[in-house]
Amino acid sequence: MVFVKIPPTILVFDTGLGGLTVLREVVRARDDARHLYVADDAFFPYGPRGEEEVIARLVPLMGELIAAHHPDLVVIACNTASTLVMPHLRECYSVPFVGTVPAIKPACAASKTKRVSVLGTKGTVAREYTKALIRDFARGCEVTLVGSAELATLAETALRGGVVSDEAILAELEPCFVGAGEDIAKRTDTIVLACTHYPLLLDRLNQLAPWPVNWIDPAPAIARRVMNLLPETRGKADEAGAHMIFTSGRPHRLSEALMPFFGGRMPA
Ligand code: DGL
Repeated sequence: MVFVKIPPTILVFDTGLGGLTVLREVVRARDDARHLYVADDAFFPYGPRGEEEVIARLVPLMGELIAAHHPDLVVIACNTASTLVMPHLRECYSVPFVGTVPAIKPACAASKTKRVSVLGTKGTVAREYTKALIRDFARGCEVTLVGSAELATLAETALRGGVVSDEAILAELEPCFVGAGEDIAKRTDTIVLACTHYPLLLDRLNQLAPWPVNWIDPAPAIARRVMNLLPETRGKADEAGAHMIFTSGRPHRLSEALMPFFGGRMPA
């Protein structure tokens, strides 16, 4: 039996703004909750960092966040972190955690051509956890791992209103499209968005894709998991239910642009 406050507090964590794509679904699923979004922008990006470095950063930081905000549930809306730190977090803290890991299982189950690509940060595609998902769930698919050094930063730039060229996006995207010279029935037909930043660029990804593919975004599945773990409460959280923290403490002027992710609320 889980006892939660009314309204419950859901803490959604990412290294930057990518986790907003997960928050958006969580808010849709649980608009009765208080939503606290934490971006560890002081340490962004996690993608190129060493595994020990990520663990040493996130585990104590999460302890401080839990002590300060008493969440009823924490969503780690970051593949780069989740593929590494979930066992450490669960060992240290009793609050329920939901992680975000590459959706390789549903992607391989859905692929007709049996060619699937996983687009993530360099860290995520290098993880043993990701390789184990392929071993366990590829179901005869050829899975291509594509580690992108730039795409998360490009997504942040675009969300902040900056200019991001087609060439810059395409350079990161192109290795996902395997079988260009082959029969259409053999080309990659499914791409796992294994970094929560990438759905921010979904319209551009669709425009620039050399051929149409099915993009797999794990956010709706994560929201369903949150629903299962957190007992429903009655009522709807008011404006005070949307908060955002940047670990850098830098002032930001993004609140209005971020409102759609918070279900139309202005995050305080
Ligand atoms: N949003 C993070 C993810 O899902 C990655 C961004 C970063 O490199 O910090 O992997």
